[in-house]
Amino acid sequence: MARPTVPPTGRERTWPDNKIIVSKTDKKGIITYANKVFCDVALYNESELVGQNHNIIRHPDMPRCVFKLLWDTIEAGNEIFAYVVNQAKNGDHYWVLAHVTPTFDDNMNIIGYHSSRRVPRREPIELLKTVYADLLAIEKSHESPKQGMLAAEAKLMEILNAKGMEYDEFILSL
Ligand SMILES: Cc1cc2nc3c(=O)[nH]c(=O)nc-3n(C[C@H](O)[C@H](O)[C@H](O)COP(=O)(O)O)c2cc1C
Repeated sequence: MARPTVPPTGRERTWPDNKIIVSKTDKKGIITYANKVFCDVALYNESELVGQNHNIIRHPDMPRCVFKLLWDTIEAGNEIFAYVVNQAKNGDHYWVLAHVTPTFDDNMNIIGYHSSRRVPRREPIELLKTVYADLLAIEKSHESPKQGMLAAEAKLMEILNAKGMEYDEFILSL
């Protein structure tokens, strides 16, 4: 099903520091489990989330290259930490620090993915708003979405190289 097209309201939602938003997906990113905190923050019922693509909560401010990095990492069997701004059903947004991991069967085949999200600190968000806006602008400056994403990905790598850090190292240093 296509993502809902409710326009962003610009209003931010918050949730308690001691709660964790959890979801599980199959190998294609279709939601198979959403905990109550997820439902409460994103303003969906569990039945509206389970069976849907995880992009149901995608916010238009998120650069595509961040999701490419996420998928490249988890499909290779690795974990990733990422700051993500998500969109609730009513168009409000909420920032999360996500930890996404593959789930393996007994033969070490990936059978799905798991994400736990905590309330992030404020300072990294302010920095990342600028970084994400720059990446998004690069993506939009290309006619081809794929070329735009690759150019933005190259820019992200340039930022990391300048810091002499791997992506996870950078994220966890914020
Ligand atoms: C376990 C897991 C959790 C995810 N969590 C989110 C999330 O919180 N927000 C989001 O926008 N995308 C999330 N994604 C990525 C989406 O699958 C998708 O790649 C992203 O929303 C971009 O969608 P698009 O390709 O339609 O632009 C998650 C994927 C997985 C596997």
